[in-house]
Formats: sequence, structure tokens, C-alpha cells
Amino acid sequence: MGAEVISGKELAQATRQSLKERTEELVSQGITPGLGVILVGNDPASASYVRGKEKACLETGIHSEVDRPDESITEEELLGKIDTLNNREDIHGILVQLPLPSHIDEQKVIMAIDPSKDVDGFHPYNTGKMLTGDDGFLPCTPFGIIHMLKSRNIPIEGRHAVVVGRSNIVGKPAGMLLLKENATVTFCHSRTKDMRSHTKQADILIAAVGKEKFISADDIKAGAVVVDVGVNRTSDGKLAGDVDFESVKEKASFITPVPGGVGPMTITMLMYNTVISAEKRLH
Ligand code: GUN
Repeated sequence: MGAEVISGKELAQATRQSLKERTEELVSQGITPGLGVILVGNDPASASYVRGKEKACLETGIHSEVDRPDESITEEELLGKIDTLNNREDIHGILVQLPLPSHIDEQKVIMAIDPSKDVDGFHPYNTGKMLTGDDGFLPCTPFGIIHMLKSRNIPIEGRHAVVVGRSNIVGKPAGMLLLKENATVTFCHSRTKDMRSHTKQADILIAAVGKEKFISADDIKAGAVVVDVGVNRTSDGKLAGDVDFESVKEKASFITPVPGGVGPMTITMLMYNTVISAEKRLH
């Protein structure tokens, strides 16, 4: 029997619809949620991500502004732009698209964003809140993954979750959020020995490696829930995940596709964080 496919596209649509209603409620109370985006330079992949975010803002009724400075912008000038957004009443979320040109210190830029507007959840203040389980902005991709699992009533508590990949944006926070949901969590990474011995134990497997077909059917336990966070370009220009979808779907119980899986949910959780940030102005 084949796995059930968890469509991030469908869940994203439903979630965006409910966010639209929350936005309309906010507008009726005089607050239009606002997202300020800074896209430095003209990297095509980053430009495409930002277009996706603008589209999602339109769908959910969020006001969005994209500032597109040239890649020659100085760090000081960029920090000045962030300061301006930090001080604007009508902007509730700030996003600086990464990566930044090498002459700019990314960590310094992230630290400059007011944590109360850090809808990416990248500021160490929000990372700390996530670790202690306090209320802060959660990073969008891991947050989207949890949302996808819950949408199918997939139990997390007491289950063994194995996260392959330890990036600050996906792997590490995904493990932390699964831990918060009371999973037993294992991290695998490039230095892990005999990775398959770990991945085969997973009830929930998160693949966030960045290598096409990294996870095959032989790497998983029958009935596992497999979440594919990979975004890889194939030799013929198509989008592919980290999981060999065709073989793994025959053995897993649930699987997320690429494209149309975690990606649309990441952007949707950015909208969610922006709406939450604007709702805080009501209290
Ligand atoms: N670059 C790739 N993914 C992301 C993201 O989620 N947020 C930001 N700011 N930059 C990114």
C-alpha cells in the first residue's frame, strides 16, 4: 500500500484562507498587517522566493513592501534600512532575504531586526525563546512541518523523530520543535557514522540535507512518516527533494512531495507570524 501524500499546497491554501479572515478582522479594527522585505542584489533564486512571499501577502490581505537595494549596498546602509522598518508603526514583520553578499555580516543584520518584528524567527532572542518553550516567533520551515504533521493527526509524542541535517534554519529548529512536542529526537549530519542505522529507526524522518535522492526506501522503516525539506535543482532544471519519492512512497505511511510540500507551508507560516505580530498591537 502506498503512503498518503501530505499536500502542503492544499494545507497552505486552507491556512491562507483562515489568515485572510483574521487579516480582515484586523483591518476592521484599523490595523493592516504589514511586511517589509529587503532583497539585496539580484540572485534569481532569492528573487523567486520573494515573489512567492509577495503573492502570499496578496492572498492573505497583508500589505507588503519590497526594497531591492543593489548588491553594492554597504552594511551600514542596510542596517539603516532595518532601523527605519523597526521604527515604522505600519510594519509588523521584517524579512531580510538570505543569503547576503559576502561583504555584509549576516548575523549582525539578523541581530539588528527588532525581535518583536522578526517574523523569520532567526533572531537569537526568538531562538532562545524557542529553546525554552516560551512564546516567540518560530522559524517558518520547522513551524510549517509541525503544522503539516498535526493537520493529519500524526502523533508526535513518544515517537522517534530523526532529523537529517543540522542547519540553523531547518534541521536544528525542526529537532527542537519535535522535542517540544515530546518526540525522542536524533540528529544525523555529515559526520554521522552508519546513518542508515539511525534513519531506519525513525517513526518520523525529516530530510533536510540538500542532496537529491539522499533518502531511499532502504533508509526507512516500513510505515515511517517522511518529511522532505530538500530543494534541489535536477540536471533538467526541475525541482527535486532529498527523498527518492517514488520508492519511499511505497514503504512510508505519509510522505510530503517536492514541489508542493513543505515549501508552500514555509511561506504560509511567514504570513501567520506577520498576522500574529499585527494582532499583538490590539492587546
Ligand atoms: N533564504 C532562504 N530561505 C529563507 C528564509 O526562510 N528567510 C530568509 N530571510 N531568507 C531565506
